[in-house]
Amino acid sequence: MNTTLLSAQDLQKSFRLGRKQPPATVLRGISLAVRAGELVSIVGPSGSGKSTLLYCLSGLEPYDAGRVTLMGSELRTLGRGSLAALRRDHVGFVFQSYNLIPALTARENVALPARLARRRTMKRDVDRALADVGLVDHARHRPSELSGGQQQRVAIARVLAMHPDIVFADEPTGSLDTATGTAVLTLLRQAASGTRSVVMVTHDLEAAARADRVLVLRDGLIHRELATPTPEQVFDAVSLAGDAA
Ligand SMILES: Nc1ncnc2c1ncn2[C@@H]1O[C@H](COP(=O)(O)OP(=O)(O)OP(=O)(O)O)[C@@H](O)[C@H]1O
Ligand SMILES: [Mg+2]
Repeated sequence: MNTTLLSAQDLQKSFRLGRKQPPATVLRGISLAVRAGELVSIVGPSGSGKSTLLYCLSGLEPYDAGRVTLMGSELRTLGRGSLAALRRDHVGFVFQSYNLIPALTARENVALPARLARRRTMKRDVDRALADVGLVDHARHRPSELSGGQQQRVAIARVLAMHPDIVFADEPTGSLDTATGTAVLTLLRQAASGTRSVVMVTHDLEAAARADRVLVLRDGLIHRELATPTPEQVFDAVSLAGDAA
């Protein structure tokens, strides 16, 4: 299978903080493609635009120029309703901050996207996702009663329970210990198979190296692309990107 689920051509994005300040360009012309079944990681220094790139690719944030095509639709041609429907039906997003609903229990948070999408809530899928991230015993806890890593795992379960075609994950293992992080990576690895793909941003170079491809972001551009690299190769590419910046 060689279907492209996501592609970007010359994607550009700037932020303007004040009227008098010149816009700060964060993405200077990103081109990439993610095919069905792939796990792609994105690495790069803090502030290099990794989260911004995920937001633009997933339709959460508008871009200034270039093209993003997600599940066959160019995002800029979609109205708000169509974009929301595309995201609801095909996209899962694990945020760098977990964005859980404080008043809902872990289980209710995981079940929420299906309820909002009026999909018949698959009790089995919700229970399975909670079990996969090791939180069966915490299903009735509210976010304030969970550790940071547990909240992160709820956020991951919430996405995986929906079986989206494409998962965007921003630092999905940032708050996890090595063992739990490895378990979560295995889940993401499994979520990237057949017709489904995962795009993951991470600072953890070991984690990055579990991907089929690693994109190294620097100065708003993709500086290097590595196919099934070792953690050492990722480390070298990131160090070079940092040195040259
Ligand atoms: N809404 C915004 N308004 C203005 N500037 C922004 C906004 N969002 C991001 N930026 C700027 O864009 C740049 C890239 O931010 P981004 O969050 O994409 O970086 P990152 O690579 O994800 O960093 P980190 O690894 O620390 O999460 C930063 O300089 C940031 O200040
Ligand atoms: Mg970020």
